[in-house]
Amino acid sequence: MRKRAAMVAVIGLVLIACVAYVATMVRRGFSARDNPSSLEAAIANAMRSLAIPASAKSSANPFQVNPEVLAEAREHFASHCASCHANDGSGQTQIGQNLYPKAPDMRERATQSKTDGELYYIIHNGIRLTGMPAWGEAGKADDDSWKLALFIHHLPQLTPQEVREMEGFNPKSAAELERQKAEEEFLRGEEDEDSHSNHGEETR
Ligand code: HEC
Repeated sequence: MRKRAAMVAVIGLVLIACVAYVATMVRRGFSARDNPSSLEAAIANAMRSLAIPASAKSSANPFQVNPEVLAEAREHFASHCASCHANDGSGQTQIGQNLYPKAPDMRERATQSKTDGELYYIIHNGIRLTGMPAWGEAGKADDDSWKLALFIHHLPQLTPQEVREMEGFNPKSAAELERQKAEEEFLRGEEDEDSHSNHGEETR
């Protein structure tokens, strides 16, 4: 009898919690501008950690950090990831800061304490119900994601020079490229002015 009463109490509590959660959602609305509560974030992180197989966490990175691998990963990160995560991994971009949940600052402990295997698993599989997409092809070796894991662990030591180099690989719209080209031509024109008389025509 006691057991039954306890069960009814537990079910009752769960129901109350569900109703309270739905009521909060209705009151707060569905805006992506909000931050998940610390309870919601803790539960989501714990579930994500549990869902990553132990074998994936302990998988060794087949690549080692060297200047070539880092340069390749920097370029890849700038062209594919920085729109949400920013070149420096801070997550401070228009998209990154307006997603729910927001793109995290990957220079912080929460990301840096993850193993290469764990980062690889996240990059290769994405994170369901968030803005984080899956990269590479399912079931196929994904060297890029292993190299990106090395780059993410390098983020706390990223230099301003590296960030400047990455800016050249950030995706640009056709209009931005056009403007950049016009500026470069204008500057080249000024440099060439002494040696050529181009009468305002295009310099090349
Ligand atoms: C469209 C936006 C978007 C793009 C593009 C994107 N991400 Fe993410 N990423 C996110 C969001 C949002 C999260 C946080 C998800 C969460 O809180 O569970 C995230 C989380 C992560 C995490 C987990 C960090 C942690 O400690 O939990 C890693 C690693 C990561 N992204 C790597 C990458 C890499 C590498 C790329 C490019 C190949 C990339 N992301 C592209 C939005 C994006």
